[in-house]
Amino acid sequence: MGDIRDLPAWRELGRLAAQLRATRVDAMFDHDPRRAERFTRSAAGIALDFSKQRVDTSVMAALAQLAESRDFHALRDALFSGEPINTSEDRAAWHIALRCPPEAPVHDEVHAVREDMAAFADALRSGRWAGHTGEPIRDIVNIGIGGSDLGPRMVYEALAVPGQRIRCHFVANVDPADLDDTLAALDAERTLFIVTSKSFTTAETLANARVARQWLLDNGAGEADIARHFVAVSTNAEAVQAFGIDRMFGFWDWVGGRFSLWSAVGLSIAAGLGMSAFDALLAGAHAMDTHFREAPLEENLPAALGLIGVWNNNFLGLPSHIVVPYAQRLAALPAYLQQLEMESNGKSVTREGEPAVVDTVPAVWGSVGTNAQHAFFQMLHQGVVAADVDFVLPLSPPAEASDSRERQRVANCVAQAEALMCGRDPEALIDELKAEGLQGAALEQRLAARRFEGNRPSSMIVMDRLDAYHLGALLAAYEHKVFVQGVIWGINSFDQWGVELGKTMAERIVEELEEGGEPGPHDASTRALLARVRQAWDRG
Ligand code: F6P
Repeated sequence: MGDIRDLPAWRELGRLAAQLRATRVDAMFDHDPRRAERFTRSAAGIALDFSKQRVDTSVMAALAQLAESRDFHALRDALFSGEPINTSEDRAAWHIALRCPPEAPVHDEVHAVREDMAAFADALRSGRWAGHTGEPIRDIVNIGIGGSDLGPRMVYEALAVPGQRIRCHFVANVDPADLDDTLAALDAERTLFIVTSKSFTTAETLANARVARQWLLDNGAGEADIARHFVAVSTNAEAVQAFGIDRMFGFWDWVGGRFSLWSAVGLSIAAGLGMSAFDALLAGAHAMDTHFREAPLEENLPAALGLIGVWNNNFLGLPSHIVVPYAQRLAALPAYLQQLEMESNGKSVTREGEPAVVDTVPAVWGSVGTNAQHAFFQMLHQGVVAADVDFVLPLSPPAEASDSRERQRVANCVAQAEALMCGRDPEALIDELKAEGLQGAALEQRLAARRFEGNRPSSMIVMDRLDAYHLGALLAAYEHKVFVQGVIWGINSFDQWGVELGKTMAERIVEELEEGGEPGPHDASTRALLARVRQAWDRG
């Protein structure tokens, strides 16, 4: 594709960044009364207001130009038509097909699995599918990791309400504490395990599934009863059968793990919350897909999310992208987005196998507001290096507005975004310090410590409601953001070779750590570490 830095749009953006470096965003509002409106995009009940970002119309036009010169339109068509855009694995990345409405003429297999999921969820929820003693299933444990965990876990936690008939639990970690602590509170007769693994070879998932199986046997189930307590979600029917699970919900290699919650990987969502919630999630995502596919770049919400990220990362040099949902139920959103963004775009080679010559994904992290204010917001306001923040604010229905805590939730979110942009007027601060009796050097010292420069960029993403439809729309917007950025950086957002080496090495080290295992060839640091582990075990 050629060196991106030679493109006229890239050069123009570099020039604009230098020009805007000293510009204050709050002052831009004084010059443009329509700024808030001009830099807000809306679709499917989601509004993205990026007017507090350090952008102007020239920047947005140059970013759109950059996207066009990286073949955005052709690649977006390829995404939607299911072409093999995952070039290193020669596969499509066709997650959008999973969200097509039932009347869509294509994708018969997608609809067939969806119907199967609906029937199973209904049987579980009505008690027709019961445990081996006839007791209805009360607890579902999804065993899976990465994309087979983060998406369904996040959606379930976002939408579950106390007192549900069926409760879902999510076990990902191979650390025994995860599964063991979960099982300690459960009744084997009323528990169903969903083993979710695209490959059905993931070591952590299979290890946990084996322990779960044994737990059932140790707690009154016989071998023949396992079928009532275990189902699988996978693309690997052979491995599922070899493991001894009869009931499998399939999906396809064209669904990437981190894009898979819309497939049968969302079975725990459908079973725990009902198929209507799962359908609403798909409908919201489909509405965002339609917007992303049809809206011109200038009005396109996911495109704006992606372009702003490129601007902050590549031109303003901000190394972190922070996500702060102001909603306790969205506490798992940052972890989900970490996989979505960093596993997708944490690459240093282009689709053609050339070195990427510009930075790709920034570090993505975050936590729920208001808690995050009492943790890392100090750094966001006064740290040496600024960061780019996405605030995610779901609106609540009128009935909830009478709760004063609800007003605090909203007010804090709004206040943080405003404070990051406006900072603190130094004159007012000086007056305050003088009123405290300070003067001279003491005043100067306090002034320096309490100073807020402001001019730190953030976007506000407002959801009309925190429900399945709007959550689907929000997640689809982030998926497309990732796609847009991959297009600009010229990388394949749909493979993840970078996670393979560690897995293979862990397998070898597991063998070494077995009783009588031979130490393998390691560097001195790793040898010392393994010796320390063995010593601890020997002492026990
Ligand atoms: O962590 C790497 C990864 O391959 C992810 O991409 C994937 O979501 C996860 O492992 C789990 O894989 P599987 O669903 O095959 O168990």
